[in-house]
Amino acid sequence: MAVETKKKMTVPITKPALGEEEARAPFDSIKAGWVTQGPRVADFEKAVAAYVGAKHGIATTSCTTGLHLALASIEVGPGDEVIVPSFTFIASANAILYTGATVVFADIDPRTFNVDPADVERKITRRTKAIMPVDQIGLACDIGAINEIAKRHGLDVVEDAAPAIGAEYKGRKVGANAHQTVFSFHPRKVITTGEGGMITTDDTALADRARKLRAHAMSVSDLERHRADHPVLEEYHELGFNYRMTDIQASIGLVQIRRLDELLRIRIAKAARYSTELGAIKKLRTPYTPPYAKHTYQSYCVDLDPSVDREALMTSLLRRGIATRRGVMASHLEKVYLDRIGTVSLPVTEEKARTTMLIPLFAAMTDEEQTYVIDALREELAAA
Ligand SMILES: Cc1ncc(COP(=O)(O)O)c(C=O)c1O
Repeated sequence: MAVETKKKMTVPITKPALGEEEARAPFDSIKAGWVTQGPRVADFEKAVAAYVGAKHGIATTSCTTGLHLALASIEVGPGDEVIVPSFTFIASANAILYTGATVVFADIDPRTFNVDPADVERKITRRTKAIMPVDQIGLACDIGAINEIAKRHGLDVVEDAAPAIGAEYKGRKVGANAHQTVFSFHPRKVITTGEGGMITTDDTALADRARKLRAHAMSVSDLERHRADHPVLEEYHELGFNYRMTDIQASIGLVQIRRLDELLRIRIAKAARYSTELGAIKKLRTPYTPPYAKHTYQSYCVDLDPSVDREALMTSLLRRGIATRRGVMASHLEKVYLDRIGTVSLPVTEEKARTTMLIPLFAAMTDEEQTYVIDALREELAAA
């Protein structure tokens, strides 16, 4: 039976896994009147740090601001270079630009789509200060190789783990493997606080510094002033930011982090079904997971044969009610970077930015919805 004669479904690209408990969670913060950063943020920081196995969590307004804060905390600034893959959401590179440092793009591995450590090493100069690998789509990058290169060249590592809370590298959770790791809690991620981010680190001095810069570089925190039995006048010795998460968001995050393992279990099972059933389609390649990694499948990313007209396929799927997105962008081809750093050749990134496509995957996706997507892809690609 052709799909056209079946009932048409509407399948979104994702749906945040938010329920009654998340809806009720901010109630206490709102009733208490402590709605900005306070005790719930501190609890959420502890919960995330404990989950990933890091000493400290520093909550932020987003992963983008978390990446900026992480770089600012290690004094990245004008005259420095930071190496980052181009094959990532533009926020990774933008966070480097915010510091005034120069963005240096590296190419990716064609199988994992994560940064190629050999190309990172080729891009190191006397001005390189840090490396920012990305755990793209929820697959841990080869952080062991990146840390080893960083150590040999005396560089810092800030891991952009926006889509990767719950991912693992060689049995260790992402968040415990780099000097600083930064997560996102945007609704497209596995767990969400609406907007939000978190740095994790084992470095106590760095965590203190990040906490201070996060709140305008104020010499005493709001909470300390609130608890003091005498007036405390704060001072400002350097330029800081307002990157504070609110207690309203953190109260939702505390419910979400408790649900994370179950959400991951569901996503991984759905991804496994996709891989089994889509694996037989000739014009499509399913995602590769190296033996060292546990994937979060923040999205399910297929790699189309270059002969497939991706935009036409996305249009046909949308007509059937199925939302898709292009895979991952090539940041170096965007005007904002072309204007600043000119032309760079990154052949694997350029090819994969043309051929990858995200298909619907979310915890509440029904088996019928997934069957509908699989059948539609099979039919459209047979005709392509
Ligand atoms: C790899 C990567 N880095 C950074 C970000 C930015 O995250 P946020 O929206 O929390 O700032 C994203 C968001 O999609 C991302 O995928």
